[in-house]
Amino acid sequence: MLKAEIIATGSYVPEKVLTNFDLEEMVETSDEWITERTGIKERRVSGKDQAVSDLAYEAAKNALKQCDLKAKEIDLIIVATVTGDMPFPSTACILQDRLDAKKAAAFDINAACSGFLFALSTAESFIKSGAHKRILVVGADALSKFVDWADRATCVLFGDGAGAVILQAATGDSGILSTHLYSDGSFGEMLMLPAGGSRNPASKETVRKSLHAIKMKGNETFKIAVRTLENLAVDTLKKNNLKPSQLTALIPHQANLRIIQATANRLGLPMDKVVVNIDRYGNTSAASIPIALDEAARTGRIRKGDYILLEAFGGGLTWASALIKW
Ligand code: ACO
Repeated sequence: MLKAEIIATGSYVPEKVLTNFDLEEMVETSDEWITERTGIKERRVSGKDQAVSDLAYEAAKNALKQCDLKAKEIDLIIVATVTGDMPFPSTACILQDRLDAKKAAAFDINAACSGFLFALSTAESFIKSGAHKRILVVGADALSKFVDWADRATCVLFGDGAGAVILQAATGDSGILSTHLYSDGSFGEMLMLPAGGSRNPASKETVRKSLHAIKMKGNETFKIAVRTLENLAVDTLKKNNLKPSQLTALIPHQANLRIIQATANRLGLPMDKVVVNIDRYGNTSAASIPIALDEAARTGRIRKGDYILLEAFGGGLTWASALIKW
């Protein structure tokens, strides 16, 4: 049976570091509060001239280098982002041009922090159907450009970055074993960016009311995320007839260290099997899983034959998981 296999990974984060101590100078907060409530110590922030496609481009180049493929050999590019360069053209089309990947069709996916897994699952289906052979999947976001820097409840949480993977068909036992996608639009207002679309087009009023910045009901989102992700992790392993002890790594979306620990606890998984980089990057939305995956692969933390569980939760609401045999 045909599977989709990840043959290369790459990632990129902007150079500029913003620490909790820097934030202490900007809003009424403290390193202690941010560290205790979220696990974040610092995050990366893109430069004025850096857009999401620039982050995606660097991550994609790093992935291409790893597998010696030419961009011309890629036949589909999917970018998961909610902070694309502009409403259209898609960031995937901008990336296709930058990479000179002339043979690739290209489109974006919007599933907020779950976006990378939605994109991975879409790519997996295209590979299995035979419609596309070599697919570049990128998760990239620059939420620093969409936070209200006076709102301490959100501005301390997010960071910028991009992660990429390249997929191709495999016939052995390695590859993506299953993906699981879920949404509940009735909770849309938990996490939203209210203006700039056709509902509330940009106006002086939307700018004055700060409606172009992310709004989040943090505590309610937290409770739903913990419950949902715990159940999702258990169900994904069950569907693959695997026990938690057979996992080499859990690679979760990095929104909050306490949410990550809750999932690990529910699985009975020691934290040394959980890939955590939230302390260095904060919540990078669709980029968080592919950045963590790339770091785990490059440092030898995951090796051929290992079982890895990926899971994410984000705006929409959306949530998703993937079980991979590396
Ligand atoms: N510094 C100091 N105090 C703060 C800060 C801050 N930066 N932010 C909030 N507070 C205060 C609040 O005002 C509140 O004070 P009060 O008790 O006097 O009213 C108190 O701290 C507690 O606030 P809560 O919001 O209840 O804090 P909580 O423990 O829930 O932590 C957090 C907040 C970190 C946002 C948490 O709720 C969370 O991580 N939520 C989930 C986020 C998530 O998973 N999002 C999904 C993915 S994101 C995406 O899709 C783009």
